[in-house]
Amino acid sequence: MHLYEQWIQEAKEDYQGKINLLLGYEVDYLPGYMDERVLKRPCDYLIGSIHFIDEWGFDNPEYIHRYEGMDMDTLYARYFHLIEDMAMSGKFDIVGHLDLLKVFKFFPKTDIRILAKNALKAIKKANMVIEINVSGLRKPIGEVYPSPLLLESIALLDIPITFSSDAHRPDQVGMFSDESEALARSFGYSECATYYKRDREMIKF
Ligand SMILES: [Fe+2]
Repeated sequence: MHLYEQWIQEAKEDYQGKINLLLGYEVDYLPGYMDERVLKRPCDYLIGSIHFIDEWGFDNPEYIHRYEGMDMDTLYARYFHLIEDMAMSGKFDIVGHLDLLKVFKFFPKTDIRILAKNALKAIKKANMVIEINVSGLRKPIGEVYPSPLLLESIALLDIPITFSSDAHRPDQVGMFSDESEALARSFGYSECATYYKRDREMIKF
């Protein structure tokens, strides 16, 4: 058992009856660089995320200068093509921060619903869940991932959702949970997905 898995196991035992702790991995979808070992680990769920476009860590403030002179329509198309590919790989349960590319407020000219259309279709076909991820509220964009426009398309396609703090510190766990729940409700959602050993279960909220 890996050290991380051992820590989770120990915490599970410590908090038994108080917190239902799950084990998950957020995995970067990097075509050509995938280490399949993590995909085979025994866990409750796998999140598939895109943080790199052609080896550029676009959500890293250190490399923000690379947005200069970029054609944002082309970049968004490329990004959502990677999401589509990730969904079609069939390796993951949940799509991480669907529209992360907006993090530094660089937007496309074309309607985001058109740019994301094929990716959303692939997510639906792959029977994946999309997270309502509040980490965007802690970033320059100041908005939840996915944006309201995308949530509208997601709800129309009847794609299930789940909630994510994407916490990087203990005090961020559960932050903005009232806001994300209200947002989900405003798009007609009343249940969210959870996973136990890669099996999905829907819970009313
Ligand atoms: Fe991420």
